[in-house]
Amino acid sequence: MRVLIAEDNDSSRDMLVALMVKWGYQVVSTTDGKMALDALRKPRGPKLAVLDWTMPGMDGIEVCRRIRKTDTVDPPYIIILSARDRKEDIVTGLDAGANDYITRPFDSDELRARMEAGRRAVEFQAALVKGARRQAKQAAVSQKEQGSVSEQSVGKLGKEDVPAPSSETATRIFEQIVVVFKRGEIDLPSHPHISTRFNELVNNGANLHEIGYLLRQDVAISSKLIAVSNSAYYRGVTENRTLEHAVGRLGFTTTKQYVDAICNRGLYMTKNSRFSKYMEQLWEHSLACAYASQAVEKALRLQLPDDVFTLGLMHDIGKLLLLQAVGELQKRNKLAKDVDKADVFNTIEAHHGRFGAALLKKWSFSDTFVQVAIHHDHLENAGSVSKEVLIVNLANLVVKSIGYSPGGASEIDLEGSESARVLKMEPKGIAEVKDHTEQMMEEMKGHLS
Ligand SMILES: [Fe+2]
Ligand SMILES: [Fe+2]
Repeated sequence: MRVLIAEDNDSSRDMLVALMVKWGYQVVSTTDGKMALDALRKPRGPKLAVLDWTMPGMDGIEVCRRIRKTDTVDPPYIIILSARDRKEDIVTGLDAGANDYITRPFDSDELRARMEAGRRAVEFQAALVKGARRQAKQAAVSQKEQGSVSEQSVGKLGKEDVPAPSSETATRIFEQIVVVFKRGEIDLPSHPHISTRFNELVNNGANLHEIGYLLRQDVAISSKLIAVSNSAYYRGVTENRTLEHAVGRLGFTTTKQYVDAICNRGLYMTKNSRFSKYMEQLWEHSLACAYASQAVEKALRLQLPDDVFTLGLMHDIGKLLLLQAVGELQKRNKLAKDVDKADVFNTIEAHHGRFGAALLKKWSFSDTFVQVAIHHDHLENAGSVSKEVLIVNLANLVVKSIGYSPGGASEIDLEGSESARVLKMEPKGIAEVKDHTEQMMEEMKGHLS
C-alpha cells in the first residue's frame, strides 16, 4: 500500500520514510502541505497519509480540513504527527478530520500499529465501495430479470416450497400463516430506512460528512455508534465525542455493520409478552452469529465480496417474520392465545428459511443473502453451496454450542460438522471463533441493547 509522508524536517522525514519502507509500504514523500494536498487529491493518490502538523505554507491541519471538504467515496486515512501533546491540540487535529493523532516523540512500534490500523481501514473501505458497486449492479440485473421488486411477494410462497410441519397443530398454524400472507393481511416489516439510505449513499460515492449528516438524524444510532467506537475493542487514544470521529475510527465497513445491527435490533422488540423472551434470545443469537461469521471468515483468511457480518445477522430473519405473523393471527383471533409454544416454535423452525429468503428478496438483498437464508440450516438441501452458506452454517452451530440460542446451549460436534469439513476449519480456528464471539458479545451487547 502507498503511504504519503509530509514532513519538512529532513532528518525526521528520512527516518519516517525508512520505517515505512521497512514495514512494506511504498512511500510518496513531500516537504510541504500544498504538495501533500495535491498528492492526496490525485484520483489514484495514496489512501494513507502521515502529516506533520507544522509545515511551511500550509500546515497538516489545513491539509486535513481541505481533504475532508473534497467530495470523494474513498477519502484517505490521515494520521497527524505533532509535538503538541495538549488535549486541546489532539481535539483540534481530530476535529479537522484526522483519523488518528500521534504525539512526538513516538514509539516506532506504536506508529507501526497505528499505520496497520489505518491500512485495515483503507482496505475495508475499498472493499465496501467495491461490494456496494457490485451489489448495485446485481440488483439492477435481477430487477430487470425478475420484474419490479413489488411483484416479488412473500405471499407468493406456497406449501410446495417447504417441508411438512411436525404436528397437526403446527400444520394448522402454518396453513393459517400462508393464508394471511397470501391475502396480504400481514404488515411486512420494512427494511430500516437508515440502513437502506446508508447503502445508497455509499453507492453514490458519499463522503464522511454526508454519512454523518444522515446518521445524525437518528439520535439513538449516533449515540450508539459513538459508544461502540469508544468501547474497549475499538478504543483509540482519545474519547470520540462526535459521530464523524466514530465513523472515522470504525471505518465505513464496520460502521455499516453496526448501523445494520442497531437498526435490526428494533425489529426484535415485541409487545407480545409470551414471545418477548424468545425474541430477545433470537436477537442475541443473530448478533452472535454475525460476529461468529466474521470470525470464521477471518480464521480461514478469506475476504468475500458480501459482508459476512450482515449475512450472519440476517440469516434467521424468517423467524422474526413468522413470529410476527403468529402475533397478527392471535390479534385477529384466528389463533388461540394459548396456542402451544412448542407448536409455534416447530412451525417457525421448519419454515423460517423460505420466509426469510422471500423477505430478503423483497428488501432487494443480493442472491447471496437469499441463499444463506434458505440453506443455512440444511446443507443437504443445497445443490452446491457457496462459501457464505458454509460460513454462516458453521457460525450458527458455534453460537448454538456456546448458548446464544433460544434453545440454550447444545452439544454439537463442531469439528465433525459438514461445513467445518468442507471449509477445512481446524479445531484451533473453531476455538478462535468461539473466543471472539464470546468476547464481542460480552463487550457489545450492552451498547446494542
Ligand atoms: Fe436458522
Ligand atoms: Fe440460526
